[in-house]
Amino acid sequence: MQIEVPREFERLGAVRIYGLQKVYELDAGPAMTEPGRDDAIVRSLPAEAIYEVQREMAIVVPVRSERLKLIEGVLVGIPNPCLVIVVSNSPREPIDRHFLEQDSIADFCRFSRKQIMVVHQKDPVVAAAFAAGGYGDVLDDLGLVRDGKAEGMMIGTVLAKMLGKRYVGFVDSDNYFPGAVNEYVREYAAGFLLNGGKDTVVRISWHSKPKIVEQSLFFAKWGRSSRRCNRALNQLLSHYTGFETEIVKTGNAGEHAISLDLAMSMRYATGYSVEPYHYIDLLEQYGGVFPTEHGDMRRLVRICQIESRNPHLHADKGDAHVAEMIIGSLATIYHSRLCPASLQKKIDTELRQGGYLKDGETLPPVRIYPSLAGLAMDRFAASAQEIVERRLGAPPLARPMVS
Ligand code: GDD
Ligand code: MG
Repeated sequence: MQIEVPREFERLGAVRIYGLQKVYELDAGPAMTEPGRDDAIVRSLPAEAIYEVQREMAIVVPVRSERLKLIEGVLVGIPNPCLVIVVSNSPREPIDRHFLEQDSIADFCRFSRKQIMVVHQKDPVVAAAFAAGGYGDVLDDLGLVRDGKAEGMMIGTVLAKMLGKRYVGFVDSDNYFPGAVNEYVREYAAGFLLNGGKDTVVRISWHSKPKIVEQSLFFAKWGRSSRRCNRALNQLLSHYTGFETEIVKTGNAGEHAISLDLAMSMRYATGYSVEPYHYIDLLEQYGGVFPTEHGDMRRLVRICQIESRNPHLHADKGDAHVAEMIIGSLATIYHSRLCPASLQKKIDTELRQGGYLKDGETLPPVRIYPSLAGLAMDRFAASAQEIVERRLGAPPLARPMVS
């Protein structure tokens, strides 16, 4: 891959947020014997180096009631070296949708000669493993893992850790373009390669989201939620640095990847608040404004933002869903210890003007889970072994080397 070196960054304490990086070639070919392009503007990352990183990467695919064809398309797009972990929260009755998912993924595994881990969020074995690891926070009154995308991501992250991976990436299962998925995962690897792999977050800013406007195809850049979330995060940063900034372009990027040790030390916000909250957690823990609770200030945490080239097309879930996302993401910023009263007022006004908050209503706080560092991995792993053994698909074929 040929990728631009970031031109700027904003720093708060030990957190560096790099400016958006453009991709100039999705595949830059193999390593050359002649030195490749490696100047101060664009870095050339050979295909082998990208694969090496992907070998150490788990890709978690959260699913809730998506069309089977879409899920299959996403699986097709994930590069071969990655371990795939599908975490589903699809209903099991009246129709057992999860059974249908397993059946279709097993078929995919048969044709592709791949192994895929498929886990159900409400599997009592998963809940028991969290309980055994002393991390009951993620369990509900019935003793099962709570609903929510973040909760599914947490299951995937812990399984990736258990299986010895170094990086964890996430791709939504409702993506219409397998090629876009393939690109995101390459870009995750590129982000880790450029930043040394440790304590790094790679977030994708979609190039565009095509939609029909006045009977023509229009390639929109920002969604209703991302626009607001980015603006609020930038205002938060500006408050502390004293310089106005627009550096944050990926406030609620669902497509992102994290160095696993960092992911295991972070806190998670429930549901769709998870992505903006990752910014908040990193800034609270490593920003140097408050003493860190679970972070290590000797870490240099890098947030790398890459602009993908493929358009992003996913299932349309309606206005109420977007409203939920806007409220959830702005709530993480509003309720942060870092958020000054002036920004709280702006957020409150914006939500009222947009009709997201009515008179007399206040912005409710979102559920925050403590750092996953509090989970005893050895006890989780002993309890979750059964899930790992239930992997779908045959062992992969030994791939012949092409000389
Ligand atoms: N395991 C699991 N559990 N997966 C879930 C759950 C759940 O409770 N709820 C939703 N998902 C899956 C969906 O099936 C989908 O693959 C993915 O999580 C994202 O959910 P969507 O409902 O499609 O969200 P979105 O497309 O509106 O928002 C996405 O993009 C935003 C940025 O624009 C999400 O990735 C957001 O988190 C992100 O902020
Ligand atoms: Mg979606």
